[in-house]
Formats: sequence, structure tokens, C-alpha cells
Amino acid sequence: MKGLDYLLPKPVTVIPKPGGLRITPAFTVGIEGFQGRRIISSASRFLNRLAEKTGLFLNNNKLVTEPKIEEISLAINCQRHGELILNEDESYTIEVNDHQAVLIALTDLGVLRGLETILQLVTPDQDGYYLPAVQIRDYPRFPWRGLMIDCARHFQPLEVIKRNLDGMAAVKLNVFHWHLTDDQGFRVESTVFPRLHQYGSHGMYYTQKQIKEVIAYADDRGIRVIPEFDLPGHTSSWLVGHPELASAPGPYQIETSFGVHEATINPVREETYAFLDALFHEMTDLFSDEYVHIGGDENSGKQWLANKEIRAFMTAKKIPDTHELQGYFNQRLFAILSKYKKKMIGWDEILSPDLPPKIVIQSWRGRESMIQAAKLGYKSILSHGYYLDLIQPTALHYLNDPLPLDSRLTLEESKNILGGEATMWSEFVSPETIDSRIWPRTAAIAERLWSPVTLCALDDLYQRLERSSLHLEELGLTHEKNYPMMLRRLTAGEEIAPLKNLVDVCEPVKNYERTVQRFYTTFSPLTRVVDAARPDAKVAREFRKLVNQFRSESIQEKDAHQLQAELEKRLILWRDNHAALELIIQHSPILQGIHSLSADLSTVAMIGLEALSFLENQDERKQIDVGEYSKRQKALLQAAKKPRGQVELMIISAIEQIVELVVGKK
Ligand code: ACM
Repeated sequence: MKGLDYLLPKPVTVIPKPGGLRITPAFTVGIEGFQGRRIISSASRFLNRLAEKTGLFLNNNKLVTEPKIEEISLAINCQRHGELILNEDESYTIEVNDHQAVLIALTDLGVLRGLETILQLVTPDQDGYYLPAVQIRDYPRFPWRGLMIDCARHFQPLEVIKRNLDGMAAVKLNVFHWHLTDDQGFRVESTVFPRLHQYGSHGMYYTQKQIKEVIAYADDRGIRVIPEFDLPGHTSSWLVGHPELASAPGPYQIETSFGVHEATINPVREETYAFLDALFHEMTDLFSDEYVHIGGDENSGKQWLANKEIRAFMTAKKIPDTHELQGYFNQRLFAILSKYKKKMIGWDEILSPDLPPKIVIQSWRGRESMIQAAKLGYKSILSHGYYLDLIQPTALHYLNDPLPLDSRLTLEESKNILGGEATMWSEFVSPETIDSRIWPRTAAIAERLWSPVTLCALDDLYQRLERSSLHLEELGLTHEKNYPMMLRRLTAGEEIAPLKNLVDVCEPVKNYERTVQRFYTTFSPLTRVVDAARPDAKVAREFRKLVNQFRSESIQEKDAHQLQAELEKRLILWRDNHAALELIIQHSPILQGIHSLSADLSTVAMIGLEALSFLENQDERKQIDVGEYSKRQKALLQAAKKPRGQVELMIISAIEQIVELVVGKK
């Protein structure tokens, strides 16, 4: 495994050279030029991670800050502190030869990005570890490369945030968008209005000290922290302690169910703005980033129209509808934020000509709103197509380019597209499962936002992602290791292999099906098979790929035989799995919901095996009534597609294709 082949995100240019730099216990890191806190801490972390990765007891596990340049193994050189603002320079170059690695950047942010690349370069061979000789030149395509984590629906403790910041830094993301308030929780301590967090969070909120800790942690990793205070909808949790802000009579309670709730801040009372002014004064002091996210999504306006005082205000001010009333509200918020020297970002609902073009639009309902915003001169970022909670395959996210080559925008308009953000809405994630929804798919999104537009080879991406996934795990992320742990809990200590064989080819239901199929609250367990199952199930994806190769017109006979053997091996495993899993299910009531799914895996595997046998054996095939056969098998396969326990089998389309081959054969 050569590190060079697995870089993710791929750098702009990579020129491999012969040879490489051996990593020995004498490995040293030296810093020339600018030496701020961020660069010292990142280089120290680099040394620790290098030691952990290689198992080497580095002799000099500290930094050399007055280096004799020719004697150190990795020489770092940068000129200045990088500001955590839009369009700051994050570029770097790396040159590795047999004697030394040199990392040069203008800012310490470039150094951070480059150190992550160097860690990915580490390559094992029979003599130990080395950095392959190479010249790399790299810089980001978009300045805004983010991950949003919703900590309102399910509170996420500090360690979850920190390990995900580490993951973000590893793939060169630079914006952590912290969704801190929603109907289900107000998660920030407010000293000015303590009833907000005291009444609005079930005691699960971040203290201001913790917030500062996260901001410092993110800063060390070159990541901005943008807080979201979602207004005027999604505000049930605010109104529990402050019903005077509401548009409809209370009392209010913290919502424990999901979906769009009606609670909405009253936009016509001056007291509302006095309150928001004082709150944003406090919060804009606490959060250092130049941007504040004001939410703005999914306000149905029902409470506004039902309120006489609000209707009278609209009539008096000639405000024709609730969208424009929200525009009025946003303008007032804009004035407050401007007073505190902050810039405003909001979901695409806030797009309205009443707001000055300085604001940023986060496009979630469709990419059209991003394009429209860019055409109107607003800056915008794309999140539509990066919704991690919808459990879509990595490929879909990866190919979702904010600015594809065939974009309809002019050059000037395209400058308004700042990048994108993956969004982790947390209705269905706990601290135990959240990483498995974020990673490794977010690494693919990170490459889309960092690397050149022309990258689109999916097989190559998936290969690199697999290594990246392990690399991310070194940072404490739990997306790989929690899977067998959750399966062990489900089988109550019995052997997990039979359950794993099934769940390996299952995925949670997609889009918003999970809420449709079952009523969930914030207290519902997230420990079932659907929670252990992961998006873009690898074993199923690889089976589908093998079947595709097997069906290919151009396949050689020898390869077809080998592929057929590969397919049979997997199908036999699945055919025989039910007998073993059934015994486990008998002792594990939590698994009963997937009993029939397990039986169906066996059935569809038998259909696949029989079809392969017909393909190999003409005489056998001639004896069947093909029409009858096709009808019967398709009905069985169709029935097996039905989700059970909110998971679905992801190999059935491939087995249908094998059956099609039998039906279509002359
Ligand atoms: C959103 O998904 N409601 C922004």
C-alpha cells in the first residue's frame, strides 16, 4: 500500500520521484520562520501521530525550533499566522527526497493541511516505514468546506465534537457549523438569559467554558466554528423559558418528536428585538467567527397568520405574506448582527431582495436556490446533495459538485459559490452512531470541495476511502469499531458472524422513510439493527460491482469463470446464513424484527445460485419454462426488497440482473 496512491483529498499536483525518506527513531521535525501556537501544537500532534502510526519510539519526540536545517528530517517553513476567515491562504508544497522532507506554506493553515498529507504518505515496506519521494503542490478549490452537526435533536458530548473536528482537519475541512438550537433543545449556556438553557435543554447544553474549549480546539486545527441559532421557526425550546417571545399562547415544552413544529418567534414586538439584541451581544462575544447562522428554515407562518396583532402589523406595514414578514424579521436580525460586526448566513428560505448581498445563503432545498442566489449577487454554499442523514451512497455525494464543468453560471457569478457543507441532522444518531453516518462519506465530500473539479473516478475514490477510513479511525472516530460492538450487544454475547453476514449487506432505509415507518422521539433507542447498519454497505456494493463485471459483454471466458466462482462463494455464505442466525435470533428478542429478512437473504441467495447454474448448464436451462421462471423469481425478489426492521437488503437488484441473464439467454 503506497501512501501516494491513497491521498484523500487528492492534491492539485503530485509528481512521484524515485526513492524515499526512511522514518527511523532519529526522525526530527524542525520549524523555521513563523512559530505561533497553532504551528507548534500541530507539529507536536504530528510527531505523536507518526509515532502511533509506526510504533516507533522516536528518540527526539519534540520539536526542534532552532533547526540546523540540513540535519532535520521534516523541515517546516511558513511566514505567518493564518486568519480563520474566508479565502485565507491554505496552500502548501511538499518535497520529499532521500534525505529530507520539506513542507513550505505561506500560513500556518497551509502547514496544517500539508502535515495531514504527509501523514497519509507514510508507507510500510519490509524494512519499516518511509515517505515516498515526491513533489506536491496543493491548494483548495473552495474556501468554505464545512460539516454541520445538529446537537439539538440529540445532544452530542464534547468528545464527539472534538473527535469529529480531528476528522475534519484530517480531510482538510475548515468550517464547523454548530447547529445549537432547535425545537428539541437550546444547547448553549446563556448568562444573560439563563432560562434559555435551563428550561430548554433537559440539562444537556454546552457551558460557555466548553464552547471556548471547542473554538480553541478547532482553531488549533484550522477550523472555523460558526454557531447556528435557528430563528424564527424551530424555536420551541426557546419558548419554554421565554413564552413572551412566542407568536401563539403557550405553554411550550421541549419537543421530543421530530418534523416541523409550529413554534415561531413573534416578529412584530419590539421586545423580541431587544431580547435578540442582548442575546446576540452575548453570543457574538462568545463565538469569535465573523459569521453567525440565523437558520431561517421551515417557518410555515401558521402561527403568524393566526395572531391578530401580527396580522394587523402586516396590514399596517403593507407586508403581503409571511415570507415577506420573515424578510422583515431577517432585516432586523441583520441590523443586530451588523452592530456586533458579524456577517449573516442562513438557510435558503432567507433569500430575499430585501437583504444586502453581504449575506451567505446555504442551499438545502435544491441546488437551484444556490444558483439563484449566485445570480443575484449573494454568496452561497451548497448543502443539497450532502445530507448525511438521508443515508445516500458516497458516490451520490461525491458527484454532487457545487460548480460542475457544465455550470450555467458566468465566471463572475461562479465566484459567489463559496463551497459546501455536509449536514449531519441528528434525529437518528446517538454519540455511538453519529460517526458512522459522518464518516467516511464526509471524506468524499471533502475531496469534492478541496480537489480539482475533474476528479470523478468512483472505483479509485472507494479504494482511497477505505484507507482513509482507517486513517480517520486513528483519531478516535468510532465509525468502524462501533459496528462489531453494536452487533455484539444485539446478539447478547453470542457469536456475531451470522448477524454480521446479514447486516453487511443491509442499509438503513433512505431519505425520510425512517420517520414514516415508525414514530420516534428523542428518547427512542438507537441501538437496533438499523442503527448498526451503515450507509453504502461495502459488501453489497462490491457484490453489485462483481455482477456488473460478470454481465459485461466484453468479458473473457476465463474471467467469467473466476467471477462466477466469486459470486457463488458469496451466495453460498448467504444461503446458509439463516440457519445459524435463526438460532441467535431465538435468544435475542431485539433481533426478532429481522427474522424474515434473514430468511429472505437465504431465499434470494438460492435464486442467485440457481440462476448461475442455469447460465453454466444449458441443458438444465432448456428444461425450464423461462416465462414461468422469470415471473416466479421476480415476484420473490420483489417481496424481499421490502424493508424489515427499517433496513433493506442491498444485493437484490444484482440478483435480479443475474436472473435477467438467464431469461435473456438465447
Ligand atoms: C433544513 O434541513 N431544515 C435546513
